[in-house]
Amino acid sequence: MTVHFIGAGPGAADLLTLRGRDLIAACPVCLYAGSLVPEGVLAHCQQGARIVNTARLSLDEIIAEIVAAHAEGKDVARLHSGDLSIWSAMGEQLRRLRALYIPYTITPGVPAFSAAAAALEVELTLPGLAQSVVLTRTPGRASAMPEGEKLAAFAATGAVLAIHLSVHMLAKVVAELAPHYGLDCPVAIVWRASWPDQRIIRATLGTLDAAVGTELERTALILVGCTLGTEEFGESRLYATDYDRRYRPVGTTPRFPEAS
Ligand SMILES: C[S@@+](CC[C@H](N)C(=O)[O-])C[C@H]1O[C@@H](n2cnc3c(N)ncnc32)[C@H](O)[C@@H]1O
Repeated sequence: MTVHFIGAGPGAADLLTLRGRDLIAACPVCLYAGSLVPEGVLAHCQQGARIVNTARLSLDEIIAEIVAAHAEGKDVARLHSGDLSIWSAMGEQLRRLRALYIPYTITPGVPAFSAAAAALEVELTLPGLAQSVVLTRTPGRASAMPEGEKLAAFAATGAVLAIHLSVHMLAKVVAELAPHYGLDCPVAIVWRASWPDQRIIRATLGTLDAAVGTELERTALILVGCTLGTEEFGESRLYATDYDRRYRPVGTTPRFPEAS
């Protein structure tokens, strides 16, 4: 018996890996984390599978579901939205399973920030402008930010920020970022990236507040940085005709000669 943790993607049912789909179909038990896991993904469950929404369960209750499946020798598909490596609460479940000697696997998923960047049709890292993306959030009721991980500290680097779980704190986000990026810095908010009701607002730090109005839906990402909405960047050296690389050597003495 194995618990398969599977990243269920950002929303669109077909933004799921083939491995994830096949594991879901193979498991007689499926535990999924609330409304952010689309019904289209649950449609891969086998007929008669036990399908449990864990949104209202405590960690103890979730582990009890797994222990019961373990006792019956039934594999479990454990679905979380996006990818499992960020804000999935997978870590505490893995720790419990290790203590119980229950085996598990982990199958990554498409994270929301990738889906949001795709919706915006942007590359977040552009030559000469930004080469780092910070995946971060603001503090929440249940989660304080560690000292040193303040928005302003990340903003001081000039990196692109993908700010999760924070659309209800827009005024505070803008106030912390504006001194570093300037009011003209491009910002985009993507609500429910890849869902049928996806919404996008593009603005600047100076115009964001007015552009957003009274939007209430919280499943949104705030992206901030100079690479959003500019055509002013250099081309990557990787494809330059005079750039010597292993698969496209330049000149008579290439830096990466063919192995003999
Ligand atoms: C608990 S975190 C889950 C993150 C997820 N594990 C991932 O890989 O993206 C939930 C937050 O992710 C962001 N998010 C998740 N799905 C999203 C989507 N489809 N569109 C925009 N933001 C999304 C929002 O900021 C939301 O508040």
